[in-house]
Amino acid sequence: MTEAILLVGGKGTRLRPLTVNTPKPMVPAAGVPFLTHQLARARAAGIDHIVLATSYLAEVFEPHFGDGSALGLHLEYVTEEEPLGTGGAIRNVAAKLRSAPGDPVLVFNGDILTGLDIAGLVRTHRTRGADVTLHLTRVPDPRAFGLVPTDDTGRVTAFLEKPQTPEEIVTDQINAGAYVFTRSVIDTIPGDRPVSVERETFPGLLAEGAHLQGLVDSTYWLDLGTPQAFVRGSADLVLGRAPSPAVPGRRGEWLVMDGARVAPDAKLAGGTAVGPGAEVHAGALVEGSTVLRDAVVEPGAVVRDSLVGAGARIGARTVLDGAVIGDGAVIGADNELREGIRVWCGARVADGSVRFSADCS
Ligand code: GDD
Ligand code: MG
Repeated sequence: MTEAILLVGGKGTRLRPLTVNTPKPMVPAAGVPFLTHQLARARAAGIDHIVLATSYLAEVFEPHFGDGSALGLHLEYVTEEEPLGTGGAIRNVAAKLRSAPGDPVLVFNGDILTGLDIAGLVRTHRTRGADVTLHLTRVPDPRAFGLVPTDDTGRVTAFLEKPQTPEEIVTDQINAGAYVFTRSVIDTIPGDRPVSVERETFPGLLAEGAHLQGLVDSTYWLDLGTPQAFVRGSADLVLGRAPSPAVPGRRGEWLVMDGARVAPDAKLAGGTAVGPGAEVHAGALVEGSTVLRDAVVEPGAVVRDSLVGAGARIGARTVLDGAVIGDGAVIGADNELREGIRVWCGARVADGSVRFSADCS
């Protein structure tokens, strides 16, 4: 049995205002905190011991997941007083690991939705005798990621985190945020200061001649670091395009949690999730969107590819398209909010006061 570390201490800055009250891994995707999907997939791959490396809003994880037994897991929590970075976080939880020096330990970024064959990644690590094995994926625009060129045997030749110049864009293969470390390699990361695994540990290991193995896997993969990606990921879970054993209900056009109320002539489509206590009123259309707990979508509103925060209110006939509405915000009737707009938690937009066009459609 393999054990795993989940990195869940980031501030989730790019997801604000979703992450003002809730750390990124705890924002609900398809009805449950996103992290539930990752934990359930790890469990399904045979992992039974997971250490959560927490920092930002650390106090919310343990009350929700407890000792992990509800998911068939043994979970432990380690909180950094000051964020230690990805490498420092991995090193900081090493005392909780049970693996012997030569054993494989999985490490996951806490914001990745993927169909990765976890057991296959461990198998590659063992058969290649690597020090670290990295899941790689291909993306059209790699600039926001860690670039990982490999030779024709899949061995990693460089690690270029968030390239700044066009000359650095040497590949479309990126670090997909799942690693297998040989336990003894974790123990070599400095334990007394912040360390970035991407900017320091991987380049340092390569410079020392360590064996970093890449495994390109073109299965479903999405980093849920931006609101648009988060909404897409939740919808893909509901639709069944993204694999997870933890979606609470049948896959399909919509998922309505217990205690939500949806008017008979409201229309839900495109993988929409409606949280407990939320209401979708008559004639409203909610498509490809996430409506969190206790939010209200009033009659005739149109909500597309958007996220409506907990307890927020969307006024009658208002149109949202690619919008994020923070927790408790109140959007009056007859507004039009589009294209990446972010309304902060608790903000108020008066009736008929924002438009992206002369006409409402
Ligand atoms: N405990 C802890 N402490 N966790 C942290 C810290 C920290 O100081 N900093 C970041 N994390 C966690 C985040 O919560 C997240 O789960 C993970 O580490 C990665 O951080 P992100 O902030 O999401 O990084 P990114 O998306 O910009 O880039 C990373 O992921 C890409 C793939 O999605 C890098 O690993 C890239 O190389 C990679 O391509
Ligand atoms: Mg990320």
